[in-house]
Amino acid sequence: MNTVKTIRELRAAVARARSDGKRIGLVPTMGNLHSGHAALVLKAAQRTDFVVATIFVNPLQFGPNEDLATYPRTLPADQEALLQAGCHLLFTPSVDEMYPHGMDHQTRVSVPHLSEGLCGGSRPGHFDGVATVVSKLFNMVQPDLAMFGQKDFQQLAVIRALVRDLNMPIQIIGEPTVRAADGLALSSRNIYLSQEQRAAAPALYRAIKLIADGIQRGEQDVQALRAEGLKLIEAAHFRLDYLEVRNATTLLPTTATDPDLVIMAAAYQGTTRLIDNLHLTKE
Ligand code: PAF
Repeated sequence: MNTVKTIRELRAAVARARSDGKRIGLVPTMGNLHSGHAALVLKAAQRTDFVVATIFVNPLQFGPNEDLATYPRTLPADQEALLQAGCHLLFTPSVDEMYPHGMDHQTRVSVPHLSEGLCGGSRPGHFDGVATVVSKLFNMVQPDLAMFGQKDFQQLAVIRALVRDLNMPIQIIGEPTVRAADGLALSSRNIYLSQEQRAAAPALYRAIKLIADGIQRGEQDVQALRAEGLKLIEAAHFRLDYLEVRNATTLLPTTATDPDLVIMAAAYQGTTRLIDNLHLTKE
């Protein structure tokens, strides 16, 4: 696996692979990789011939009081994990390489509606930052397909919309969330949790599951189920951001009879913000 830092080297390596007739897969990340990321690379390697991963902690998607400065940077371990998972090329640009004219002068990509509310409500500008950097990476690599985790459900919806609206010929694949044995969704931010917070954290998924199980049993009163879920979250000393039942395509509020719904939650353990969701589809 080759690691390159410049767009020029990236484009040259991808052009060589393409001239050999290879299909290109892209796995954009911010590094500090865990088995969820490895699963994305493995799947990309099954579906394409040349897998490009990117590691870039994108300042454009962090708010002023967020963890940009402390976000874990673990390049040697990440390189090893990517190699093991079957990655062919790693792109690790600097901020100057990605935003040579400064972030204030950067053209932005903004996906209306889907970027608003939920994580977009508590992290203003976050999804514009994601949509912008992902669009740039798509233009640099021009992959046949790109893989993202379903844990970031709203992010995935935003990326699907930008590809559709900007007519990018890229297949977007969402992969199921990888969980620890106790149900906690794997996340690069889990390393911020103290031992006590880590022990409490699986309650977020338990609350989501409680609501999902109720809906699957045929219970119609989403608000009553939500109140039960909330009790679990509060008992685990989370500070709630949101706990919502939404339509999985529009991300708008919905009812228990919706055949395609998603239960989404975000909550803080101390200063660490965790998100999770469960997508329920009925035939
Ligand atoms: O999910 C992430 O790690 C990031 O939001 C992404 C998609 C790599 C864009 O910076």
